[in-house]
This record gives sequence, C-alpha cells and structure tokens, in this order.
Amino acid sequence: MTEQTETEIVPAAQPASGKDEKYYLRFTLPQRYLHAVLFTSFLGLAATGLPMRFSDNAGARFFARAVGGFGAILFFHKFCAIILTLAFLYHLKDIFTRAVVHKEKGMFWGPTSMVANWKDVKDLVGHLRWFVGLGPKPQFDRYAYWEKFDYWAVFWGMVVIGFSGYAMWFAPFFAKFLPGWALNAVLVVHGEEALLAILFIFSIHFVNTHLRPDSFPMDMVIFTGKETEEEFKKKRALEYQRLERQGKLEAKLADKPVYWWVNFAKVVGFTAILIGLVLLVLTLIAYFQLNGGVG
Ligand code: HEM
Repeated sequence: MTEQTETEIVPAAQPASGKDEKYYLRFTLPQRYLHAVLFTSFLGLAATGLPMRFSDNAGARFFARAVGGFGAILFFHKFCAIILTLAFLYHLKDIFTRAVVHKEKGMFWGPTSMVANWKDVKDLVGHLRWFVGLGPKPQFDRYAYWEKFDYWAVFWGMVVIGFSGYAMWFAPFFAKFLPGWALNAVLVVHGEEALLAILFIFSIHFVNTHLRPDSFPMDMVIFTGKETEEEFKKKRALEYQRLERQGKLEAKLADKPVYWWVNFAKVVGFTAILIGLVLLVLTLIAYFQLNGGVG
C-alpha cells in the first residue's frame, strides 16, 4: 500500500470543519508501519515478560494459568521478540541504505538528523528556563531534543535487551564463549533493562508525545503521518521556516487524513496507551509488593 492509495479513498461523509486546512506529511507509510510493529511487539513483550519477572505474584500466576502456563507465556514472549528483532533489523537496513547507498546528506548531522547536537543542549536549558518563566519557549526543527532522547533510549535498549534475551534463549551456544557468571548476569541485565524500558515508555514517552498540553490526549501524527499547518508551525517552527526558505514546503503538502482511518487509529492508539498504563500500574504494584514486603 502506498501513501497515494491510502489518501485516495475519501468517504462520502467528511466532517465540514477544517475543510480548507492544509496538511503536511511528517512520517511516510513505512515509518508508520515500523512504529506500529514496534509498539505492538513491545506491548506483547512487556505483557509476557512481566509475569515471568514477578512469577511469585498472585496476579501473574492467575494470568499464567489463564493463558496455558508459563511455558505458553515464554512461547509468546519469544514470538514477539522475533517480530521486534525483524523490525529492528529492517530499521538498520534502512539507515544503511540511506547513508551508504543513497549517500543522504544530513543524516548524522544537521537540522533533520536524529543525532544530538549543541542546539539540543541549548534547547533543553531554554526549555527548563521557560518552564519556570525565565525565558522564551525554544523553537524546534524536525526533531526536538526529547524526541531524540526517546529514539536513542529505545535504540540502545533494543541492543542490550535483545542481546541478553538471545543469550538466555540460546544459553548452550553462548556458554561456548561466555563464562558462567556472564550467563547469570544476562538474566539480571535483561530483567532490569526491561523494567527500565517499560517504566520509561509507559510514563515518559507517553507524557512526552501524547499527554503534554500541545498534543493531549493523543498525537495522531504517527498514525496518520500528517499534521495541520497550524500544528506544524506551532510544534516545529524552525523546520517550517527552513522548508519555506528552501522552497521545499510545497512538496510536503498532503491530503487530509481519511476520516475512517483517523477513527481507526484513535481506537488502536487509545487501546495501546491504555494497555501501557495498566501494565505500568501493575508493574509498580508488583515491584513494591516484592521489594517492600507488602502482601
Ligand atoms: C529480542 C528481544 C528479546 C528476547 C530475545 C527476549 C528473550 C527472553 C527470554 C528467553 C526470557 C526468558 C528467561 C527465562 O527463561 O527465564 C525473557 C525474559 C524476560 N523478558 Fe525478554 N526478550 C526480549 C525482549 C524483551 C523486551 C523488549 C522486554 C520488555 C518490554 C522483555 C521483558 C522480559 C522480562 C521482564 C523477562 C523476565 C526476566 C526475569 O525473570 O527477571 N524482553 N526474555
């Protein structure tokens, strides 16, 4: 399915409001698919990893019995791990193709890069000052400093969690070149890094992207790929101005997102956020029961 085919299907009843509003493309279809695969497999890994981590918890045991035991949970965990690994490898292939084959300029440095630079440090300081009323709100380009932080947290988290996960899965193979203590360590590393990832994604990432006042209750751009001119100018003023200066703004113009697709995305998005928040609460309860000796 291409960008074009999705936008061509215009239903009969479009809401009249915002009819003349301009839309700009922010994320391509493959980028949105990748995010969808990433968050569904991550939710699956969290929902199956947590009962294993807190296997003494009564709720975890109840859940395990309901789905066919801890063996079944481990099976689903490995299934989701393969999906997530494939998504990660696809992303690495994409970076390689853009950087090496197409020699895309500005991928590792410049206003459109995911790599942090001096402006991000200044934006962070400026933002903190703005929070307490000591300066103007910083203006952002394609990616704000917290979006880069979220990206790299997931990127390196994937490497650490993935490597430790496969070391446990294929322990006899890894035992050929890793000492025994290292194999014990990977279990601790996997479990702790997974907890960190779950807490980070279901709290900071959710607040950063969806729950902050600019986007509340949910930023739809990762589902529709498009945002209105007003949102674009407000959230990424420097990118808007830069594209205008370079004469590249017109090329980013897109059709209004299709009505049914926006509603479908809302259902999927809210469900994902709800599952994440429920898992976050259950994780905190299980963690404090285990470590605080409550219950
Ligand atoms: C490529 C990715 C991954 C692989 C190959 C993998 C593999 C595994 C395996 C084989 C186990 C079972 C350990 C045992 O036999 O007791 C496990 C446990 C676990 N996994 Fe993963 N996993 C991956 C990603 C994740 C992610 C992204 C999360 C969190 C969202 C996660 C959370 C957990 C947790 C919490 C446990 C229980 C650890 C413990 O008992 O302390 N895993 N994983």
